[in-house]
Amino acid sequence: MSEAGSVSLPKAELHVHIEGTLEPELAFALARRNAVELPFPDTEALRRAYLFEDLQSFLDLYYRLMAVLRTEDDFAELADAYLERAAAQGVRHAEIFFDPQAHTARGVPIGTVIEGLARALDASERRHGVSTRLIMCFLRDESAESALRTLEEAKPYLRRITAVGLDSAEVGHPPSKFREVYEAAGALGLRKVAHAGEEGPPSYITEALDVLGVERVDHGLRCMEDEALVERLARERIPLTLCPLSNVRLRAIGVLEDHPLPRMMDAGLLCTVNSDDPAYFGGYVGDTFHAVREALALDEERLRELARNSFLASFLEDDEERRAR
Ligand code: ADE
Ligand code: ZN
Repeated sequence: MSEAGSVSLPKAELHVHIEGTLEPELAFALARRNAVELPFPDTEALRRAYLFEDLQSFLDLYYRLMAVLRTEDDFAELADAYLERAAAQGVRHAEIFFDPQAHTARGVPIGTVIEGLARALDASERRHGVSTRLIMCFLRDESAESALRTLEEAKPYLRRITAVGLDSAEVGHPPSKFREVYEAAGALGLRKVAHAGEEGPPSYITEALDVLGVERVDHGLRCMEDEALVERLARERIPLTLCPLSNVRLRAIGVLEDHPLPRMMDAGLLCTVNSDDPAYFGGYVGDTFHAVREALALDEERLRELARNSFLASFLEDDEERRAR
């Protein structure tokens, strides 16, 4: 498959944080519009700051830059820009994370965030040929009570939201901390995913499955340290939303050539490849397909398997089946 072929292969993106698609140019445009001061003189200086030690050093900048997002229009513009780029890289369906607490903590109402995103998502099939779902994430380094309050605040907007997720600083914040809010989300008919095993241990993956009842694990990279867990994930066909460029930029993996993706596929895991925070990590999902193809010598069949898996692991078909019932 040519470079253009791997980039344009029809695929679904299942792991992308909308706030992580904020490109420096848009950040500066929004900063001007909203009279927000950024701690960088220009886009180049900002890009030079994209050298991360680990997840926390990235999150510090990621949360800081969000200060420019204030109005419904800002969120709509952010999401529309992502969908346009994603469509150009073969994405036909996108399940998009957002972090409401990162905005409500700054005084931006949750309705502003959701209505703004929803405006872009509602127009996406027509404008970009990309179907969408929205996944509301709880920040795991905030309290369980804050997550419960957020779920409560989201109640007027639930028809916009397909699933809940769990993100932010992982180590020290195990999935079990959020048992109650996941139970409540399930009772409201929301589906469940969670980041686990990105920097945290394999036991966090097991907890996400057994305590939170997730259907899909975001990252799940460190499952490779536990053979029995790998066997279970393969047997139960639990999808993993891997983000190889993110793993290198956040130093979970030294170089892309050492990424365990081929071994994970050989072990029978249902792997998907995603961009995570593409504005920060050097590529959208088509670029990621191209990068793993080159670095890991994946052949055409493997790339097609990854693209097929992305649709299989999506909420698309089940949702339609559920609606038909
Ligand atoms: N929020 C945005 N990107 C994230 C990541 N890679 N891990 C955890 N939380 C995040
Ligand atoms: Zn993520």
